[in-house]
Amino acid sequence: MKLRKLSWNEKLSTELCSLDRDHKNLIEAFNVFVDALDRNEPSDKLLDMFQAVINELFQHFAFEEKMMENIGFKEMIEHKQHHETLNADAVEVLSELRQSESPEDILASVNFLRALIMKHMVEQDLKIRDFILRGL
Ligand SMILES: [Fe+2]
Ligand SMILES: [Fe+2]
Repeated sequence: MKLRKLSWNEKLSTELCSLDRDHKNLIEAFNVFVDALDRNEPSDKLLDMFQAVINELFQHFAFEEKMMENIGFKEMIEHKQHHETLNADAVEVLSELRQSESPEDILASVNFLRALIMKHMVEQDLKIRDFILRGL
């Protein structure tokens, strides 16, 4: 199975520098992990790198939630629930990685997590942009 990286493009822009920067950092941390997995780095190193992805994710969600609160974003409760689900999915992948005999075992989960992160940025985070730009 081929591992896929995340990539940022202008279509993902929320028009907010701070949020875009956070998203880029998250993508970068994820890609560092994917590269390490691709190179078959030892499992303790992979665990550290995946923990860094989770830290980036948690930190980003806290920041984004504070921001949603500040601007009075209408769908904040639903958005927070999406964050909680994504957090739980990432923690699940971490525990799969801990228990896996070989990194090969978790490739499907890592690709799935990648798709979930991208889906969240496209389907949920862009709603914040629409709210700011058009009051939607
Ligand atoms: Fe979000
Ligand atoms: Fe976000």
